[in-house]
Amino acid sequence: METVTTIAAVRERVRAWQSAGQRVAFVPTMGNLHAGHVSLIELARQRGDRFVASIFVNPMQFGPNEDFAHYPRTPREDERMLAAAGCDLMFMPEVTEIYPQGSERGTRVEVPGLSRLLDGEYRPGHFEGVSTVVAKLFHIVQPQVAVFGEKDFQQLTIIRRMVADLCMPVQIVAAPTVRDADGLALSSRNQYLTAGERAQAPAIYATLQAAARRLGGGADFTSIERDGVRALEAAGLRPDYFAVRQSADLAPANVGARELVVLCAVRFSKARLIDNISMTRA
Ligand code: PAF
Repeated sequence: METVTTIAAVRERVRAWQSAGQRVAFVPTMGNLHAGHVSLIELARQRGDRFVASIFVNPMQFGPNEDFAHYPRTPREDERMLAAAGCDLMFMPEVTEIYPQGSERGTRVEVPGLSRLLDGEYRPGHFEGVSTVVAKLFHIVQPQVAVFGEKDFQQLTIIRRMVADLCMPVQIVAAPTVRDADGLALSSRNQYLTAGERAQAPAIYATLQAAARRLGGGADFTSIERDGVRALEAAGLRPDYFAVRQSADLAPANVGARELVVLCAVRFSKARLIDNISMTRA
């Protein structure tokens, strides 16, 4: 595996592969890789002849009171994991390479509507930062396929909409969420949990599963949302939201909707975790 830090170097490698008829698969990450990322990488490798990963902690997607400065950075360990996973090219740019004008002054990409709901309400500007950096990375790498995790369901939906709206020639593939044995979705932010919080956290997925069962049984959305919040609070957690939405556009679900997703966000002392469960109603 080769590691590069400049846009020019990425373009040169990718151009050579694509002129030889090779298909390029891409996984953008913020590093601190774990088994969840490895599953994205495995899926990407099945979809392409060459595999590129980026490691970039994107300042534009962090709010002023969020953890940008402290976000875990483990570049040497990430490099080892990517090499072991069969990565061909790791792109690890400096902030100035991606935002030469500074992340405040450059051009931005916003997916309206979708970026303001759910997590967008609690993290103003977050999804604008995500769509901007992913659009830039797609222009830099020019992959034929890119893989994103279903754990960040709203992010995945926004990227799909951006790609469709901007006619970007990249296929978006979704990778299922990887969980610990007790159901907690893997996330770099799990390491911020105290031992007590880690013991409480599996209640998130258990509550989502209970909601999905009730949805399958025909219960109404309002009572599922209300009971979800109550169950999380009863487990000692602080939910920001627990919402039943239509999978395609995250709009509040219509009575007849079949493709549904239940999403939630929970606050801990030093972390905020998100999770979701999708289901198809008969
Ligand atoms: O999911 C992430 O790790 C980030 O939001 C992404 C897609 C790499 C953009 O910075």
